[in-house]
Amino acid sequence: MSKESNLLKPIKVGNLVLKNRIMFPPLTTNYEERDGSIGERSLAYYERLAKGGVGYVVIGDVAPVNTATPTPKLCDDRQIPSYKKLADALHAYDCKLALQVFHPEYDVPGVGRLIRASMAAAAEAEKAKAAGDMETFASKMEESGTVRKQAFAKLHHDMLHFESEATVEQLNEIKTAMAECAKRAQKAGVDAIEVHGDRLVGSLCSTVLNHRTDNYGGCFENRVRFALEVVAAIREAAPSMMIEYKLPIVTRNADGSLRGKGGLVEEEGIEFAKMLEKAGVDMIQVAQANHTGNMGDTIPPMGTVPYNWTLPVAEKVKKVVSIPVATVGRVVTAEAGEQILENGQADIIGYGRSLLCDPDIANKVAADLPIRTCLNCNKGCVDAIGVRKYASCVLNAENGNEATVSIRPGEGNKKIIVIGGGIAGMEAARVAAVRGYTVTLFEKSDRLGGQIHLAAKPPRKNEILRAVEFYEKELVRLNVTLKLSSECSVEEMNTADAVIVTIGAHNLILPIPGADKENVVSAWEVLGGKTQVSGTCAVIGGGLVGTETAEYLLEHGCKVSIVEMMDKIASGESPTIMPLIQKDFADHEVKEFVNTKVSSVAEDGKAILATDTVSNETVTIPCDYVVMAVGSKKNTFDVTGVTAPVYYAGDCAGERTADIASAIRSAYDVANKI
Ligand SMILES: Cc1cc2nc3c(=O)[nH]c(=O)nc-3n(C[C@H](O)[C@H](O)[C@H](O)COP(=O)(O)O)c2cc1C
Ligand code: SF4
Repeated sequence: MSKESNLLKPIKVGNLVLKNRIMFPPLTTNYEERDGSIGERSLAYYERLAKGGVGYVVIGDVAPVNTATPTPKLCDDRQIPSYKKLADALHAYDCKLALQVFHPEYDVPGVGRLIRASMAAAAEAEKAKAAGDMETFASKMEESGTVRKQAFAKLHHDMLHFESEATVEQLNEIKTAMAECAKRAQKAGVDAIEVHGDRLVGSLCSTVLNHRTDNYGGCFENRVRFALEVVAAIREAAPSMMIEYKLPIVTRNADGSLRGKGGLVEEEGIEFAKMLEKAGVDMIQVAQANHTGNMGDTIPPMGTVPYNWTLPVAEKVKKVVSIPVATVGRVVTAEAGEQILENGQADIIGYGRSLLCDPDIANKVAADLPIRTCLNCNKGCVDAIGVRKYASCVLNAENGNEATVSIRPGEGNKKIIVIGGGIAGMEAARVAAVRGYTVTLFEKSDRLGGQIHLAAKPPRKNEILRAVEFYEKELVRLNVTLKLSSECSVEEMNTADAVIVTIGAHNLILPIPGADKENVVSAWEVLGGKTQVSGTCAVIGGGLVGTETAEYLLEHGCKVSIVEMMDKIASGESPTIMPLIQKDFADHEVKEFVNTKVSSVAEDGKAILATDTVSNETVTIPCDYVVMAVGSKKNTFDVTGVTAPVYYAGDCAGERTADIASAIRSAYDVANKI
């Protein structure tokens, strides 16, 4: 990669010139303020993207109406200044800004009225309570609860039926609200509007979801009518703005089944692309259709769909239109983006999760520097949004806190020794080196990565190795001295200004009778290839490691039982991954024992004896091997004779073990404060 890269070539889109082909597609981040305006967190993140060289940023899911859900909103003139500040900040880097205007799949004012009524009743209840009127307090609280339930019932009903039940008057109001939003955006100096072709608009386009019998339902022309009306309304309201359309396609899974519901199948999508061009749309982003109830269908986790899986449709769309076409979806590396442009398959590359992981893709392409590539793990982004937290990439310690977290310049020329080359050690070494310190990293084994190599073993997980590949290049570039297969002597440690210890954790064996038998092994031994197991395996511990180890064992031909003390297997697993595990377990007839407490391994080693904690009955689980996945414990470091200051990071610092995000953040913080 170099300055000559196709990714860095400018492109004309409508009345705009994008300085390069690197686009941040719409990603809900939850960075915005409660009222939907752009606050400090949002501003800092998007500004960071612009500083990293991104040519075109789209703010995801901007509501033109006052929705109850946390999402950016531009539904009131008073919000314009915050968007202007954002536009100005991006323009300072010649980065263009678009808002993805969407409408949720429900009657926003209707649900809003009920929620406000519930809140008003609750406020009256509080007033009555303060006045000592407990009777009114009780009745108003009851009223508040009842109305709140009605609001949620309406919301749930609408999410399934609104596209079919909305009156034409309601559709017109929504269209007008979108046009008004575009007008406000234009006033704020925003460059473009992206029509969100998913959500309500996509539901109307869909043969699966749209059951209308009027002019907005039935035949293809009717189903896309609203989308085209929205485009026309925006064009009229904000004539100077570029209009982009996110075109969600219902693609096919490997088994031929359809993936996604709220969009158009390929043939209709290609036809519609031509209609969009005719309607004055300046750019089309071809993406995956949603509305399946599983975010993993639009935002697939690692190892589940091929890289660039929506590209084949983008390529076909590009053949029938003359406006620029963007592709999005698991274009994970700069090299892949470069190849797509080189092949002429698309004109612009959307790097979604990748830009949360590394906002400097464009600048690094220009300078030929290593890029921290996204793992597609979905943990710090999709899952965080799912539980209403803000996006914060597991690998990027600054992400989501760009306003407050950054690497400080070093204090003088310090010599730093890092002990341990797992994810925490590598990150600590990187940060210390970026600060200008002289860094030496000692790793006992012959390779960097530590537990990541174990985490890469279960099915679908191989992509996690990208985390190591980045550091392998970056640490060399930063002149970190890598001492593999080496241990650091106390004398050498004492020559350093600081020693950062990142020696990880070890897998635990549950201290139960029979745990010392030969056929009782740890999950890490199995994943690390240190022990071969076969036949029927009973995995003790149904957390993330236990579940993934079970999948690994299935892949290696074992029959598996999994035993968990809690009432759920794999709690904490990404909802985008969980359905895959469930299917895998069902296909292989895995026996799941939840609420089950293991008491011992049978005398002959051929069973686990346990108790069902709900029924109090004894359970016997036959097995050839017992695989323990009951967690890990931090390793301890012998400080005898060490006079240099010692800092700890990652698992051995007592962070949540086997958690990449915690390891990265603790290493970053420690290395940043020395
Ligand atoms: C955290 C997160 C939030 C997203 N929010 C939106 C959104 O608001 N609107 C939208 O159209 N797509 C949204 N997407 C989908 C992305 O635009 C993109 O299509 C998807 O992440 C695949 O691209 P990637 O593999 O480069 O990440 C979101 C994706 C992520 C990861
Ligand atoms: S949390 Fe995972 S999927 Fe999300 S941006 Fe970071 S590495 Fe990528």
